[in-house]
Amino acid sequence: MKTNVNLHPYNSFGFDAVARYFSEINDIQQLEDLIHTDVFKSEKHLILSGGNNILFQNEFFDGLVIHINTKGVEILREDENEVIIRAQAGEDCPDFVRFTVEKGWFGLENLAHIPGKVGAAPVQNIGAYGMELKDSFLQCEAIHLETGEKRVFKKEECAFGYRSSVFKNELKGQFVITSVDFMLHKQADLKLDYGNIKAYLSEHGMEAPTLLQLHDAICAIRDAKLPDVKQVGNAGSFFKNPVIEKAQFEALQKDYPNIPHYPDADGMVKVPAGWLIEHCGPSTLRQAQGSGTAHDPHGSEAVSWKGWRDEHVGVYDKQALVLVHYGGGKGQDIVELARNIRDSVEAKFGIQISPEVNFV
Ligand code: EPU
Repeated sequence: MKTNVNLHPYNSFGFDAVARYFSEINDIQQLEDLIHTDVFKSEKHLILSGGNNILFQNEFFDGLVIHINTKGVEILREDENEVIIRAQAGEDCPDFVRFTVEKGWFGLENLAHIPGKVGAAPVQNIGAYGMELKDSFLQCEAIHLETGEKRVFKKEECAFGYRSSVFKNELKGQFVITSVDFMLHKQADLKLDYGNIKAYLSEHGMEAPTLLQLHDAICAIRDAKLPDVKQVGNAGSFFKNPVIEKAQFEALQKDYPNIPHYPDADGMVKVPAGWLIEHCGPSTLRQAQGSGTAHDPHGSEAVSWKGWRDEHVGVYDKQALVLVHYGGGKGQDIVELARNIRDSVEAKFGIQISPEVNFV
């Protein structure tokens, strides 16, 4: 166990935050030993996986950070139709997805290039391009942080929803996922219906793509829209797409006929938060607060958040759902920006958006 470790390399926003205690777990036995230590018992703890979906609000974490770095992939069962494969929690998710694609196994390809570790993927049921982790998830193994008990969670016990699971809600902070089992298929079953996938493929002369071509196309589509964490700090989508009542949506549609929308469960309507954020800005907030639109150095007269920035943080210019840290800033800069964005979306559209990113 180390003390006073700067978590800068462990969070994709790239903020400085010093952890009082830090323990890296390279095999499960280390975790089992750790939970019997005095430090573990007396300090608050934080399970840190890839750090791709986390915002350190403060420069000091007064507790124990447990960094899961266990590796290993094994085939548990395989026949001519399907394969069950187990990945340890610390495996890099994009590498693992690419490995399954290269093997010719279907089920994870649209999740290509989502930064993070395998063990964190079920926690928020990662999803992209018409696919979610739950579609291929079979079960996971986890360790209870108080008792050390090992428990297998079957899919139906995980309460998967849109960017959510039992691990983010009822059991938050109680278990550490140590491995995940996936059920993948050998028969072609490509999901090409989301957004501009088909358009992209046909532009590139790939109307009937192979599994690998689809994987690579998704990587290219993502790269064109989302900033590379190696170049600029970010945590992917910062907010979730809100789901609203049909009546509220129809009223909005009268004022904004071009508002994009997707049907959701129980007649509700999902609206892309990226569109809402793009269609309001710092000026919305200033008007709502009755403070006029006088010029200020931070561009608070701007009508759109998209591409807005101040010295250290901003809103990505190609995807308004992504908040970015250009360097030299503090977690509180993002907290403030997120609050202003949330308030302006509410002031203009009457919709409350909530973060997808975990605040620590
Ligand atoms: N849009 C705008 N302006 C923007 C961004 C989006 O108007 O700046 C509108 C457009 O109408 C666009 C629609 O929003 O057609 C949807 O945009 P996009 O396809 O980029 O998807 P998203 O809803 O913004 C979600 C996920 C992403 C995932 C993509 C692709 C959430 C919170 N985000 O974004 O996930 O990659 O779909 O499937 O559900 C992540 O979770 O970190 C993440 C990047």
